[in-house]
Amino acid sequence: MAARDRERPDVPGEGASKAPFPDPAAAEPAGSPQEFQLLLKHIFDHRGLDCRQYKPSYLKRRIGVRMRATSTARYLDYLQRLKRDPDEYRRLLDDLTINVTEFFRDPDVYQALRQYVLPQMLEHKRAKRSNTIRIWSAGCATGEEPYSLSILLLDFLSRLPDRDSWHVRITATDLDERSLQAARRGIYPSFTLLPGMQPERYFRREGEGWRVSEEVAHAVKFHRADLMKMPPYRFLDMILCRNVLIYFERDMQARLLDLFRASLRRDGFLVLGKSEAIIGAAGAGFEPVLRRERIYRKAEETCLPARCERSRPSLREGAGSRGGQGPATRKESR
Ligand SMILES: C[S@@+](CC[C@H](N)C(=O)[O-])C[C@H]1O[C@@H](n2cnc3c(N)ncnc32)[C@H](O)[C@@H]1O
Repeated sequence: MAARDRERPDVPGEGASKAPFPDPAAAEPAGSPQEFQLLLKHIFDHRGLDCRQYKPSYLKRRIGVRMRATSTARYLDYLQRLKRDPDEYRRLLDDLTINVTEFFRDPDVYQALRQYVLPQMLEHKRAKRSNTIRIWSAGCATGEEPYSLSILLLDFLSRLPDRDSWHVRITATDLDERSLQAARRGIYPSFTLLPGMQPERYFRREGEGWRVSEEVAHAVKFHRADLMKMPPYRFLDMILCRNVLIYFERDMQARLLDLFRASLRRDGFLVLGKSEAIIGAAGAGFEPVLRRERIYRKAEETCLPARCERSRPSLREGAGSRGGQGPATRKESR
C-alpha cells in the first residue's frame, strides 16, 4: 500500500507562536507572477504537463515544498535547477501528480458498489442482452483502484449462477508513466480486501510482497493518458475518477465531466472521491445515486446550449481521432 497523501495542510501563521524569528526554510517561495508562469511554461514545454489545469494555490504549495527541499528561494532559480537536475524534475512531477492510493480506499464506497450499484448494473446488462461490463479507472495511480474493482467484480460474479457468462474489462489510465509501470508489475507490500473476500484467490506471495493473481490482472489494461487531452470512450458502464478532480480548476472539472458523460452509456455510473462532489450535478448531466459515497448516474440527455457549445469541439475531435471506440474494442496493452 502506498503512503497516504503527504501533503501538509496550510496553517496560516503556523510556527510564529513557537519561534521568535520566521523559519527561512518555511518561507513562501519568492518571485513575480511572471516568473511563476515561466516555470509552469517550462514544465509544459518540456514534460507535457499542462499546469493550467491545476489550481494555482495547489501548484504553489507543491512547488514550494520542492523549493524548500532544494533550498531554492526564487522561482527562476528553481527553473534553472530543473534544467540541470533531471532527478529533481522527476521528484517535482511525482509531487504535482500526488500518485498515492490504496486497495479498497474508502471501503464503504466499495461496499455500496457491491450492494447497490452492481446489482443494478447487471440488471441493465441482462435487459440489453450484453454480457460485457466495461469500467474506466481514470487517474489509477499505481493500480490499487482498478485491481480493487477487478477483485470486487470477480467476487460479486462468483456468487451468481450465470458467473461464467460475464466478461469484465477495466481500462485504467494515468498521466504518470512510473506509476503505470508499478501498476503493470502488480506487486504490493500489503493489501486489504472487503469482508468475506478470500485473499488466496486474489493475491499470491512474491518475495517480500504480494502479486495480484492472473485472474485479477487479466481484466485490467493500463494506458498512459492525460485526462485533459483524451477523447471519450463510449458506452462504459461505470467510471471511477477518485481523488483526481480536486486538483483541477472549475472549468477544467466541467470539461472532465463532459468527457465522462460522453464516455458513459445511458444510466452509467460515475464515482468520485469522498472529498469531491459535482456542484450542480443536474447541470453537469449527472444525478446523485448515493450522495455520501459520491456515486452519480448519468442523467437523461439534456442539452443546455452553453454547455453543449463548450463540450462539442473536444468531443468531436475525440470521436474523429479514435472512431469512438471504447475499451472493449480498442487495441490495448498492459
Ligand atoms: C491521488 S491519485 C488518485 C488515485 C486513485 N484514483 C485513488 O483515489 O486512490 C491522483 C492520480 O491522478 C493522476 N493525474 C493527475 N493529473 C492527471 C491528468 N491530467 N491526467 C491523468 N491522470 C492525472 C496522478 O498521476 C495520480 O496518479
